[in-house]
Amino acid sequence: MKRIAIFASGNGSNAENIIRYFQESACPAAIVAVVICNNPAAGVIGRCRSLGVECEVMTRPEINDPEIMTNTLGRHSVDAIVLAGFLQMLPPFLTSAYHDRIINIHPSLLPRFGGKGMYGRHVHEAVAAAREKETGITIHLVNERYDEGRVIFQASVALGPNDTPAEIEEKVHRLERRHFPEVISGWISAMG
Ligand code: GRF
Repeated sequence: MKRIAIFASGNGSNAENIIRYFQESACPAAIVAVVICNNPAAGVIGRCRSLGVECEVMTRPEINDPEIMTNTLGRHSVDAIVLAGFLQMLPPFLTSAYHDRIINIHPSLLPRFGGKGMYGRHVHEAVAAAREKETGITIHLVNERYDEGRVIFQASVALGPNDTPAEIEEKVHRLERRHFPEVISGWISAMG
């Protein structure tokens, strides 16, 4: 069984959903071995600890330190990394150590609304301002350039002409809840 590290910075609804999915699956392809968080005030810390998953709260310099980071992931025997609302750029030593073993979820249909500054609420505000007819989620590999890795999965949802950013966000969260754990499971199962 493969061992996943989830990296998260905020609320952690995706992290919780993924942890529960693998805990509740009769024959899981993976387990969430650890959550790595770079924000000591993040909701994700309590969420995962209450589900019995260890959460390592690390500073930016610690995450960027090859020895500290490699030791941390090694201690938990991590095979693959899932970014779920993680707002720090990964250092190159990590993307090369886990080449093709890191995925991210982006809350829009990339390449639309990706790139610098496009995270969280900013994405949904831009989608609303552009009066898009649809939005969605993109799950993609993370190599050296964040939003440009190979796309593994996309799902879309229709938008009404007056949808607010908060309504768009809720629609996107529903897609994330429905699809992200299953896509991770399929991706992990195909991994050598
Ligand atoms: C999600 O919308 C995810 O797509 C994006 O950041 C958000 C994280 O939400 N990358 P949560 O912390 O999982 O609740």
